[in-house]
Amino acid sequence: MQILGIETSCDETGIALFDNKSNKFIFESLYSQAEKHNLFGGVVPELAARDHVNKLLPLIDEELKAKKINLEDIDVIAYTKGPGLRGPLMVGTAFSKALAFSLGIPTIPIHHMEAHLIMAKYESDNLLYPFMTLLVSGGHTLLAKVNSPNNYEIIGESIDDAVGEAFDKTAKLLGFNYPGGPEIEKNALKGNSSSIEFPRPMINSPDLNFSFSGLKTAVLYEVKRLKTEKKFNNQTKYDIALAFQDAAIDCLVKKSIKAMRREDCNQLVLSGGVAANKALREKFKGEINEKNIYYPDLSRCTDNGAMIAFAASEKLNFKNDHLIEVKPRWSLEDINNG
Ligand code: KG4
Ligand code: ZN
Repeated sequence: MQILGIETSCDETGIALFDNKSNKFIFESLYSQAEKHNLFGGVVPELAARDHVNKLLPLIDEELKAKKINLEDIDVIAYTKGPGLRGPLMVGTAFSKALAFSLGIPTIPIHHMEAHLIMAKYESDNLLYPFMTLLVSGGHTLLAKVNSPNNYEIIGESIDDAVGEAFDKTAKLLGFNYPGGPEIEKNALKGNSSSIEFPRPMINSPDLNFSFSGLKTAVLYEVKRLKTEKKFNNQTKYDIALAFQDAAIDCLVKKSIKAMRREDCNQLVLSGGVAANKALREKFKGEINEKNIYYPDLSRCTDNGAMIAFAASEKLNFKNDHLIEVKPRWSLEDINNG
């Protein structure tokens, strides 16, 4: 079966064709709007939606031609139903439903965060239920126990900002480009680790929740102080990037280990855009046996169409209706039992 995956939940137009017999991707293509949104310091939903409209057809057409595949060879279309930005989700959903209708094939609606985590299962036969997952993206920071397919238990989450959002806001305060995560990671490599220490909010709280807004505020005060003292320069920016990244990572790692012990899970899936952070991966490797940490390939950590097609192949919950419905807010736990 050949599954076309379509991702449009935020600012990346992602498409991929997955063949579930050979377990191979026939094509994968991604168009990132980041440069456009960078001008505004963050994603502008209306612009994102308009860009998806213009990019989906050419992206698909280009790949079909390059791989000499006919539209009729596609058996099913999987698309992101949510969570995400309403306008961009509507574009992907309406596009997928219309294309599927014209081809007389079914669609499969996919939960974006579930797709992030399921992608870690691709070519990882040793990953067994139950396992723990840390989902870290621009909109989510959560720990969930995955008991079996379609059975998620959220056991901890951020009570305020998502960690990716904190990376993006810190980058903005430091004058770095959007998206901020990769910029913080790159600039932190030039930082001096002993010069600043930021608080680690809730790191010792008895629950498994996170908080990142206080950390972001601490960065804001430090930037203000350095500006007043005329010490806000490239080196102090690198130092702040490193100190922020260390603090955020400490919180994520400590709570994940605690969750794994409490729930008696020895395997961890790391996914979502922030899981692309190499310092985060390294920190985990220092705490857990490397063999027990699973994450998607770096290129498939941030939003992409491959994870949507692959998640669909794991679920195969076909829909033949014509309902164009999206779920901008959608908890993983709502997936349980259908
Ligand atoms: O999963 P994703 O691509 O989109 C959402 O579903 O939100 O995640 C995007 C988030 C952004 O906040 C971005 O700054 C962050 O992931 N991110 C990173 C890195 N790459 C992307 N954060 C830290 N380090 C990275 N290397
Ligand atoms: Zn995502």
